[in-house]
Parts: sequence; structure tokens; C-alpha cells
Amino acid sequence: MYHFDSCPDRKNLGSLKWERYADKSILPLWVADMDFETAPEIVQALEARLKHGVFGYTIPYDSVHESVIQYLSKSHSYEIKEEWLHFLPGLVPAINLCCHAFTEATDSVMTLTPVYPPFLSAPKYAKRELITVPLSFNEKNQWTFDFEAMERAIRPDTKLFILCNPHNPVGRVYTKEELTQLSNFIEKHDLILISDEIHCDLILESSSQHIVSATIDENLAQRTITLMAPSKTYNLPGLACAFSIIQDPKKRTQFYKTIRGIITEINCFGYAACDAAYRHGEPWRIELIRYLNNNYTILKSFIEESMPQIVFKPMQATYLAWLNTSQLNIKSPTQFFEKHGIGLSDGTPFGDSNYVRLNFGCPKNRLIEGLERMHEALKKEGNLSE
Ligand SMILES: Cc1ncc(COP(=O)(O)O)c(C=O)c1O
Repeated sequence: MYHFDSCPDRKNLGSLKWERYADKSILPLWVADMDFETAPEIVQALEARLKHGVFGYTIPYDSVHESVIQYLSKSHSYEIKEEWLHFLPGLVPAINLCCHAFTEATDSVMTLTPVYPPFLSAPKYAKRELITVPLSFNEKNQWTFDFEAMERAIRPDTKLFILCNPHNPVGRVYTKEELTQLSNFIEKHDLILISDEIHCDLILESSSQHIVSATIDENLAQRTITLMAPSKTYNLPGLACAFSIIQDPKKRTQFYKTIRGIITEINCFGYAACDAAYRHGEPWRIELIRYLNNNYTILKSFIEESMPQIVFKPMQATYLAWLNTSQLNIKSPTQFFEKHGIGLSDGTPFGDSNYVRLNFGCPKNRLIEGLERMHEALKKEGNLSE
């Protein structure tokens, strides 16, 4: 019903993804932005809004509130009240503002690496000390929390914990047991949790289920600032529409005071797209997941068969593959691949320079082209020998 095999050309439209490289022959497989056109149901809603012709300041309206509330209930068994919800132009400004709202100058902030770079920059921009704890591996060889290391690293001045679930870049969906243990840690150390769940509707593995942190128990519900958006799932980041959910009224007041005068109204197209995505986008999303799963299989098989020196742990969510290149003996893997026509995200700002991140949210042929270029480059430069 939907088509993911071909995509519109984005050149000369200011696409962050496609404008990055001066050398236009480089295939961009970096930033978390898919090449696909969004759901036609969303395009129709935007066309209808455009036809109206008046684009004044817009505040959240009943239909958007209702669609978000119903979506959270239906898709994530998360029952919220309208007053817990607040619209924002993005998760990144929200994470930065949370560092100001919920910590003092002498406090520290904890997060787990590797992680989406703004988690590492936000505390620094707010001049708060950052404590990073590396993720470890569980008995199934999956990335997981290392509570012993977290206990060793936590300090009395640590006030805020920033979680990424599903975790970008490692693609992990944390289980109820893991989140319950995290809830205990958060309570024991009297922390506030920022739970970035922007990738929650991009679960690839059918046996995995996203669990909203705030549904774990009442303790976590009261301590959590949940951040979400339809932008990653429906490829709408250019429309800048995201939202926070804060159950505790004190934290809501604290947050709203901090963002006052800084965060503007969301634009009317962001609301229209958000409303349509959650009301009518599900059939498209299901097809998208099927397509991404196929791309994931292509990627995994290609790496296992042709580039086994790239170490790649099974992932459960997102379209972002976290590839360990240390066995390739390449000094700067991102530069190496760029030189050979493949644009990947550098692992360094995520916290590990041995890795690159590959975005497979693109037509299958584009992915195969990228993988073949990687293989050719490694063969040519002699990096595939044992
Ligand atoms: C974990 C995570 N949070 C936030 C964002 C970006 O959010 P926004 O565009 O709403 O600022 C991304 C984008 O890749 C992400 O991966």
C-alpha cells in the first residue's frame, strides 16, 4: 500500500542530511532522518491546513490533545491527563532546559554512554558537571545498565539522570526488570529522570515491547519528565513538534517557569502533522517497520558475510546501527568511509571513537549501495585481512 523503495530528491532544499558533504557523490547514511516521504495521511492533513491560508500563532487544540492522549493509551498503555502534557519544538531544547530547571550550578547530571550527543552536551552547556557511565553487556550479550558502575559513580550532588529508551545508538529496548531496577536506583539517590522515548514506535523485534518509564511504578511516575515526538517515526523532524509529559505538578511548575519566554509556540503544521500521525499513521508505521526490518536483515547478513571484522550486536529498535570498527585497524573510521563515498555518523561525540553509526532508514538499494561501497573500500585498502 505504501512505497519505500523510491524517495523524492532532497537536494537544494536545505536538507541537513543531504547538504552536509561538499562532495555530492558521498552517500549520506548519517543523521537520524529517514529518506522516506512521510505517510500520505499526514501529507493530506498538511495540505488541508495549508489550504486554510491563515497561519497565525497556534496553541495546542482539542484534537491534538486528544490524539496524543489516545495514542499513549492505545500504543503504550500510558494513561495521562491533559494537564501533564506540554508541546515543545524539540526534545533537544527540552533536555537542555531540564538541566537548568532541575539542577543548581553545583549539581551533577548522570547519563550512560554511548549515547545521543546532546545528552552529553546539555549538562555542559548548563555548566553542570556530567557523570558518564558506560553501558555493559548482559548474559544475552545485549547492551544494558551497569548498576555497580552507576553506584560507584553517583555522588551526593547528582540530581538528574538522562535516559534514552529505546537507546540511540545501541538500539536497545529496556525490559520491565531493567527499568524497575532503574526506578530503585532513581529513588535511592533521590534523582529526577529525563526519559527520552523519541524512538518508542520504532521497535523492530516483534518479541520486544517498549515500556514507558513512567508506567513502571508510582515512584518513577512522580520523578519522570517523559519526552516524546512523532518526528522520528513519521520522519517529521523539520516540523519541530514534540511534547513533554510531567505528572508531578511541582516539576511542571519548575519546568514551565524555566521555559517561559524561551520556548515559542509550535507552528501550525507541526500540530497538524502530529494530530494526523497519531490518528491515521498506524498502517503506514506498520509498513515502515516491515521495511526497516528487511533493511536490518540485509545489513546484518552483509556485515556477517562480507565484513565480519565489523562487530555488530543485535538491535531491537531504531534504524540506526552502531558498528564497532576497532578490528579494522582504521585510525579515523568516519573519515576513511567518507573518503570512499559513504557518510556515516562518527562515534566520537556519542562517547566511543571506535564506532560509526549507520542510518538504514533509506530505500533498500541505497543501503546496498552504501554497504557495497564500504566493502569495496575495506577490500581496496586491505582492512579485511585477519
Ligand atoms: C534520542 C534522541 N533524542 C532526541 C532527538 C532529536 O529530537 P528533536 O529533533 O525533537 O530535538 C534524537 C534525534 O536523533 C534522538 O535520537
